Amino acid sequence: MKTKIILDTDPGIDDAMAILFAEANPNVDLVALTTVFGNADIETSTRNALYLKQRFGMNCDVAKGVSKPLLRDPVGASTAVHGENGFGDIALDAPTIAADPRPAHQYIIDTVKAAPKEITLVAVGPLTNLAMAITQAPEIGDLVKEVVIMGGAFGTHDHTGNVTPFAEANVHDDPHAADIVFTADWPVTVIGLDVTHETFFSTDYIDTLRDTCGEVGEFMWDISRFYLDFYKSRMDVDGCFVHDPSAIAYVIDPSLFTLRKGPIRVVCDGPAEGLTIQKHKPTKHKTDEWAEKRPQQVAIAVNDQAVLDVYLDSMTQYGNRES
Ligand code: RIB
Ligand code: CA
Repeated sequence: MKTKIILDTDPGIDDAMAILFAEANPNVDLVALTTVFGNADIETSTRNALYLKQRFGMNCDVAKGVSKPLLRDPVGASTAVHGENGFGDIALDAPTIAADPRPAHQYIIDTVKAAPKEITLVAVGPLTNLAMAITQAPEIGDLVKEVVIMGGAFGTHDHTGNVTPFAEANVHDDPHAADIVFTADWPVTVIGLDVTHETFFSTDYIDTLRDTCGEVGEFMWDISRFYLDFYKSRMDVDGCFVHDPSAIAYVIDPSLFTLRKGPIRVVCDGPAEGLTIQKHKPTKHKTDEWAEKRPQQVAIAVNDQAVLDVYLDSMTQYGNRES
């Protein structure tokens, strides 16, 4: 049976790779893209979601989300990583289709309530829309199937941060929202840097996508030029880590990941702002800000070759389908 997902996203180059993966894989039913600020401002990320929907003939809804974090001052769009237009500054035609009239958090609430236990929320940007949805309608906690988050870094394999030494971008963009989402009474699985920095799209791999996956592969190759330049200049690597598509890989096949259970909190200010901490030991403490919180799942290992294989298989079949 297909897993129905709402994909909350800030497209974004790796977001586009995740969106197209969700659209391509036959075991995923992409119900909607809900947009959020992050890699780009909210107007740009929503335009990019609509662009993908129109260009690739996707059936999903698009609902526009929030433009800024709940409490902290905005960090600003990640133009150094994703370009001014979020898609590596390639030329883009303006989409001629419109978003759903509801704000993203309302779309999430309505859709989860209309299909109890059927919808998996997958978030690959700052967690502001999800925090607003669960705060305004706590009853959806019992109605979602699962909440899958690309975000955070828990120190496995020494992966501790990408925008600060101890924070991952999506959590750092809105740490208060992340703390709400991780501590809410719903089932969360976190696909953080612990595993996304263990899976790598080499330049050769992306060349293969271009050569074997038709128009969709060429598009991913085009938008990733800017992204790969950033990786080369910042980290001296030939390729990029696999962030947002890893969350979709988990939805498709959870057995590719090793999970650890325990409540999660987020540091919301100071030099470690955005640090994510999971208490996975049963030790009792007199003072414990984790103790009463719901245990959630954090991915700490991944079968990286299997993720690469399922991605390439999905995109090859999708790119060569008969329309
Ligand atoms: O830290 C990686 C995450 O930050 C990804 O979701 C990427 O798209 C950026 O938003
Ligand atoms: Ca993202």
